[in-house]
Amino acid sequence: MSTNTKKLFIKTWGCQMNVYDSNRMADILRPLGYENTDTAVDADMVILNTCHIREKATDKVFSDLGRLRPLKEEKEAKGGKMLMAVAGCVAQAEGDFILERAPYVDMVFGPQVYHELPEMVLKASGDERVVNTEFPGDNKFDKLPEEQKNSGVSAFLSIQEGCDKFCTFCVVPYTRGSEYSRTVQEIIDEAKRLVDSGALEIIVLGQNVNAFHGVGPDGSIWGLAQLLRALNEIEGLERLRYTTSHPRDMDDDLIAAHGELKKLMPFLHLPVQSGSDKILKAMNRKHTRELYFDVIERIRKARSDITFSSDFIVGFPGESEEDFEQTLDMVRQVKFVSCYSFKFSARPGTPAANMQNIIRDDIATERLARLQGLLNEQQIAFNKKSVGLTLPVLFDRKGKREGQLVGRSPFSQSVFVEGNARLMNTIADVKITEGFENSLTGDICTTETMSSARS
Ligand code: SAH
Ligand code: SF4
Ligand code: F3S
Repeated sequence: MSTNTKKLFIKTWGCQMNVYDSNRMADILRPLGYENTDTAVDADMVILNTCHIREKATDKVFSDLGRLRPLKEEKEAKGGKMLMAVAGCVAQAEGDFILERAPYVDMVFGPQVYHELPEMVLKASGDERVVNTEFPGDNKFDKLPEEQKNSGVSAFLSIQEGCDKFCTFCVVPYTRGSEYSRTVQEIIDEAKRLVDSGALEIIVLGQNVNAFHGVGPDGSIWGLAQLLRALNEIEGLERLRYTTSHPRDMDDDLIAAHGELKKLMPFLHLPVQSGSDKILKAMNRKHTRELYFDVIERIRKARSDITFSSDFIVGFPGESEEDFEQTLDMVRQVKFVSCYSFKFSARPGTPAANMQNIIRDDIATERLARLQGLLNEQQIAFNKKSVGLTLPVLFDRKGKREGQLVGRSPFSQSVFVEGNARLMNTIADVKITEGFENSLTGDICTTETMSSARS
């Protein structure tokens, strides 16, 4: 490390797209001498890459800023400098207001302009305070440096951004802007670089990833299925996933791809939000309960071992006990294997924030507990059913205990084993021994046990 190296601390909230963005910000700042560090203490730059999706997420940013302030003041009292930046969706939504509330912040910029970081850093270093919440006409991906460093054995790759769906509860169309897709060539080139640098799994990302419509090498518009087929051909790549999808954009071609593509993992996150048609309509989800069931059934026909996860919102304005029962009924029918569920949070500026028939918090809390109880039951049942199976596991993390490795099954379950460290960043067969609520444990299958199992 040269003496000119500056320390960069990035904290990331929210969805995987924010994780991808944080990695890319580090890529842009590296040529300016910034290297990642895992603590804000003594950092030369701190970036909070934020999420605006629910009120709680937003509040956390301001409490973190309050905690960081003394670190900055301490550093500056010693003659040093700590640039403090708020990036991501809170920055996009709150803009100037962040500087008013936290005057020690130097830079506020949204998700569409982080390719302009070098100019912004220059200005902020000269004691100018920067607020940049534009949606510039140019594509930030054209301006990002090529390499992605340290993206790991399981790598994220953003292929699509923004959303035109305007669900009435959601801030994403406002914070990320309208939908656009990267070109196919750009994506394939980036995927190949990721594989060359050690990725065995690529998770392609978009707020509405199955609305992808990128310009192909032949000039025609490619859908996600076509793109996945091209990615499936990359030698050395073992696993493909995509997230997050909208039920309405699961077209026939994409469903067929689940049956065809060996590398496409048998696990799909398909948010539904509610099982009641009345609530789906009020949410402007643009799909019915029936459409959701139909999509699930068609995907299962294409790939019989596929598993599903979903997102739910309870306590949406106007949700009656009967509406909520319809959500529970849907969960019982589909049998999800892992889900996220939230109490409705009224977000300023979204249509749902002004709706009548607000649900009392104690009722929403009680419904959330009931829903989560059911979801947990299903998740445990699925994990217990995995006991005795041999599953290929991609090991991407070390466990807390000495000698413990953690990886993912094809169904995205966390699998804990005792194993040699050389198995890190590889895929190995694991015989599952126990299933818990959030994880599995198992034994690595050595060649001997594999052959005896076969004989
Ligand atoms: N693009 C994805 C999800 C984006 S946000 C989709 O179309 O489904 C991730 C999840 O946060 C959503 O699926 C939803 O369940 C939840 N969410 C979004 N806005 C919310 C709000 N105002 N209150 C509670 N949960 C919300
Ligand atoms: Fe938000 Fe709906 Fe768009 Fe998903 S589809 S990002 S929930 S507006
Ligand atoms: Fe949050 Fe923005 Fe992602 S609001 S969920 S970080 S798109």
